[in-house]
Amino acid sequence: MVGREAGRFITFEGIDGAGKSSHIDSLAAAFRRQGKTVTVTREPGGTPLAEKLRTLLLNDSMDPLTESLLVFAGRRDHLRCVIEPALARGEIVLCDRFTDATFAYQGGGRGFDVKVLSILERITQVNIALGPEKIRDPDLTLWFDLAPEMAAARLADARTPDRFESQPVEFFRRVRQGYADRELAASQRFVRLDAGHTRDAVWSQLVGALVKRGWLSAESADMAAEKTS
Ligand code: TYD
Repeated sequence: MVGREAGRFITFEGIDGAGKSSHIDSLAAAFRRQGKTVTVTREPGGTPLAEKLRTLLLNDSMDPLTESLLVFAGRRDHLRCVIEPALARGEIVLCDRFTDATFAYQGGGRGFDVKVLSILERITQVNIALGPEKIRDPDLTLWFDLAPEMAAARLADARTPDRFESQPVEFFRRVRQGYADRELAASQRFVRLDAGHTRDAVWSQLVGALVKRGWLSAESADMAAEKTS
């Protein structure tokens, strides 16, 4: 029997206003052009239960431990119901934010203890299929890195800010540092994209990273960019 192709778990990260969301659909289109099945999802959220928790997280005030527990509760449901089944079917999973966001926002931004977050990460992401010692990590994390001042300017008149978007620039400096720390600890799966450039220039960086890994053909990427721009 020919073995099923392995699924790939790709996450999108960055401070609010870094522009990651607009690239997710383009990348999904590029993979679909290559005949892949793609699941596009997000955190907080991604299942009916986790979407309810998202509403609480973005609107209700709570302390950083409560915030972290809710984030990981939603993640557990999301992994069980959406991410793991899709990967087991050999699909591509594109996820708008994942655990790096918890380390960046709750750890960096809120100043919550990252040792506690590491314990929650291990409990939540332990992967039966991979063995009890392995946790489910992304295969690739695209980090849209942008100076917090630029991100704030982009967000200024975009929409009504939620509990996170309304934080001061100083908060986002700490979030950015949180991402930098995660990149340092897991540099093999992180690709830092300079999100201060035009959309096309950021897309070229993103495509370059995937073509280099042999996951995407440059032709599919060009066609997907034309269709979604
Ligand atoms: P996001 O979906 O990027 O917001 P939007 O749809 O408004 O662009 O993320 C929602 C917010 O949740 C974002 O400000 C970051 C925050 N967040 C955390 O604080 N911790 C987490 O673990 C995750 C996944 C997100």
